[in-house]
Amino acid sequence: MLDKTKRGWWKSAVFYQIYPKSFQDTDGDGIGDIPGIIARLDYLEKLGIDGIWLSPVYASPQADNGYDISDYRAIWTPFGTMEDMERLIAGARRRGISIIMDLVLNHTSDQHRWFREALKGRDNPYHDYYIWRDGAPDRRPNDMRATFGGPAWDWAPEVGQWYFHQFAPQQPDLNWENSKVRRELYGMIRFWVDKGVEGFRLDVIDGIAKEPDRGITSRGPMLHTYIRELSREAFREEGLVTVGEAWSADVEEAKLYSDPSGRELSMVFQFEHNFADCRPGGEKWDLAPLDLPRLKKCLEHWQRGLYGQGWNSLFWDNHDLPRIVSRWGDEGTYRVQSAKMLAAALHGMQGTPYIYQGEEIGMTNIRLPIEEYEDLETLNLYRERLEQGYPAAEVLASIHARSRDNARTPMQWSAEKNAGFTTGTPWFAVNPNYREINVQAALDDPDSVFYFYQKLIALRKQYHVFREGDFTLLDPENEEVFAYLRGTETEQLLVVCNFTGETVDWPLPEEFAGAEMLISNYGGAPRGALRPYEAVMLYRRAAE
Ligand code: GLC
Repeated sequence: MLDKTKRGWWKSAVFYQIYPKSFQDTDGDGIGDIPGIIARLDYLEKLGIDGIWLSPVYASPQADNGYDISDYRAIWTPFGTMEDMERLIAGARRRGISIIMDLVLNHTSDQHRWFREALKGRDNPYHDYYIWRDGAPDRRPNDMRATFGGPAWDWAPEVGQWYFHQFAPQQPDLNWENSKVRRELYGMIRFWVDKGVEGFRLDVIDGIAKEPDRGITSRGPMLHTYIRELSREAFREEGLVTVGEAWSADVEEAKLYSDPSGRELSMVFQFEHNFADCRPGGEKWDLAPLDLPRLKKCLEHWQRGLYGQGWNSLFWDNHDLPRIVSRWGDEGTYRVQSAKMLAAALHGMQGTPYIYQGEEIGMTNIRLPIEEYEDLETLNLYRERLEQGYPAAEVLASIHARSRDNARTPMQWSAEKNAGFTTGTPWFAVNPNYREINVQAALDDPDSVFYFYQKLIALRKQYHVFREGDFTLLDPENEEVFAYLRGTETEQLLVVCNFTGETVDWPLPEEFAGAEMLISNYGGAPRGALRPYEAVMLYRRAAE
C-alpha cells in the first residue's frame, strides 16, 4: 500500500474513474448509486488501483449529468445519502483506495441557491457571484459561443441583464474576480477534505479566469494566481492529489501547473494527443484516420517536455471521450489483443495512468439512432450541423465515433439482464454486446483484458523504471508501430506496440535479445514480425 501522507505518492499510483450514473445500481431505479460503488470495491481492489476519481455525485438537476451542481455539500438523492458517501470513503480507504472528488469550480447549476439569489436583484449579495453585462434584451454583449453550442450569453429577465455561461445555459459561470466566491469554494473543499477525501479532479480549471469582454474563456491572465491561491488555501495537506482538466494546456503551460515545487497542482489532463485522428484544424467531430506518427510525436513531446519538470497524466478514455478499443483498436476479431496493446502503449509511459470504467474489460462504443442519445452536447451538435447543411448520415457517423455517450453506457457486469447493472430500466442504453463483454466473463478468463491491466498496474509498482525512466521514441516515422524506450541508470524498458490488424516486420533491437519479458498479449515474445495488435514489454538491467 502506498504511504499517502507523502508528497508525490500519486506518481506510483494508478487511478480509476467512476461515472456513478452508469456504474452499478442497487435500488432498481435504473441509475447507478453510491451503495453500488461500495458493492464493487472488492472488484476494484482486485484490479489493484490506488484511487477512484468519482465524477460528480453532488445535488444537481442533471442537465449535464452532475456537472451542474446545485449544492456542493449534498449528495444527489438517487445516488444515495451523505452516510453512504462516508461509508464509501471509509470502505475504500480500508482497501488502500483514495476517493478523489470531482470539483466543478468554473460554474454552478442555475438551480444553485447562489444563482437563484442572484436573480432576485442587482443588490442581492449573491448577484456578484456570477458574470453579468448590461444591455438590451435583443443584443448580446458579444458573439461568443458556448462549448455545447449556442451563444455564451443568456438574458435574465428577472434582473434585466445578460449572464455568461461557457457551457449550457443551465451552467452559469462563477465570477472568480469576487474573493467571496473564492472563499466559499475553498470552504466547501475543506468540508470534503474533512470527510476524508484524498484528492480532487478539477473540472475545466483553465476556464476560471475568463475575460469574456475580450473573448478569453481559458488561460486568462489571472489563471495561475488563482490556482496558487486555491492550492494554498484549500489543498494544504502534502498528500492531497490534484489533477486539473485543461484542454488548453500545452507543455509549457503544463509545467506551470505541475511544477514539482507543488505550488499549483499535482498534474493536468491535457488533450493534445486526442486530435491525432481529427482533420487538422478541425473539431473532434471532424473524423480522420489515426495519424500514428503524429500521435507518437505528440506523446514524445509531452514525455520529454515534462521529464523532471512536471508530471503527466496518462489516459485514453474518460466520460467525455469515445472508447479507445473502438477508436484506435479493433472491435471485432482483435478486440482483446488491441485493448491490451493500447493499455501497454499507455501504461509504459511516465505519468499517472487513469483507467475509465469498462476500459479494463475492453468495452466498446455504441451506435444508436439520434433519438436515443442523452448527452446535450451530442444533441446540440446534431441540430446545429443539420442547420448548417451537413448531411444527416455524416453527422450521425461523427456522433457514433465521438459522442460522449459512447462512454456512458452502463457498466457491463455480467451476461444477465441489463448486464447486471440494474434490475430496473436503465437510464441509458446498455450496449447489446454485454453478453460477451462483461466483468464476470473477464474474471473467469485468465487471458482477459482485465488480468492484463491488473498485471500492468502491478508492474508499475515493482519496477522503478516506470516511474523514473526517461523516454526515447524509436522509429518516429513508422506508421504502424509505436515503440519506445524508458531508461534509468540501471534499468531499461522497451515497449513495442503494433497499431494495426496486420503482421508487421519490426525486428527487436539487438540489445534486448534474451531480455526479460514483463508482459505480452500473445503469450511469448515476438519472433521477427509483430502479429496483429501485438504488444510486448521487455526489460533489462542497463549494465548487463
Ligand atoms: C468538463 C467535464 C464535462 C462537462 C464540462 C462542463 O469538460 O468533463 O463532462 O460537461 O466540463 O462541466
